[in-house]
Amino acid sequence: MNLLDTAVEAARAAGQEIVKRLSQERDVQSKGFRDIVTDADLAAQAALVSVIHSRFPQHAIFSEEGLKPSREAETTWVLDPLDGTTNYAHRYPCFSVSIGVVRGDEPVVGVVYDPLQDHLFCVERGAGATMNGARLRVSQTDQLIHALVALDYAREPRLRAEQMAAMVNCSRHIQTFRSLGSAALSLCYVAAGWLEAYFHWTLSPWDVAAGSLMLLEAGGAITDINGLPWHYTLPRCLATNSVLHSAFVEAMRA
Ligand code: IPD
Ligand code: CA
Ligand code: CA
Repeated sequence: MNLLDTAVEAARAAGQEIVKRLSQERDVQSKGFRDIVTDADLAAQAALVSVIHSRFPQHAIFSEEGLKPSREAETTWVLDPLDGTTNYAHRYPCFSVSIGVVRGDEPVVGVVYDPLQDHLFCVERGAGATMNGARLRVSQTDQLIHALVALDYAREPRLRAEQMAAMVNCSRHIQTFRSLGSAALSLCYVAAGWLEAYFHWTLSPWDVAAGSLMLLEAGGAITDINGLPWHYTLPRCLATNSVLHSAFVEAMRA
């Protein structure tokens, strides 16, 4: 079985765990300021690890809920078992499972799965990105005034305020904003052409390992918020349909 098939199987298994628990009494624990984890995050992580290790016992796993690689490995699975935990805890129906496979410090395969809508986003480096089998392409919108833009809000007050200042600047130029509450899905929505851009100040590798590759393979662009080169381990990103990239860098400044 190849990497992508395994990632799909794992994402679907995790999605089942998440959906099964959605209407049940949930166990919500605090991990930090405005940061929570639920029983569904942990159950989804266990499901992912079980599928991945059954196929690739020699691969390393780096996952949000406390799993760090114990050794150097050629291949590392970077996992967000439940991206959108705050939504999930409120039963707000928007969240995903995100799986990135990293080799040589770059993502090579990714799957983002929205189990409620049964949207399965898949990507392989060099082979393009798909949703439920249909090829993904970013939008061709070339005027900011027609741009639908998503962002998520940093938890930390100072960063949130900084981000809101960029949002106010941007608001003068674009059509309007959305906030999905799942960074992985937001990147996929830009890849699918449903949004023109997404930005966030406090991302973690597991939020973006899969979604950033999805976006690039769909023809999008991703940089830091100043338009400088970006890597999936950096916290601030601006992801766009590429055509409008430099316009967004400017719009966020003034
Ligand atoms: C969060 C979501 C959210 C973003 C946060 C992330 P989690 O991931 O992606 O949209 O604003 O920065 O931490 O905690 O739900 O996996
Ligand atoms: Ca996340
Ligand atoms: Ca998570």
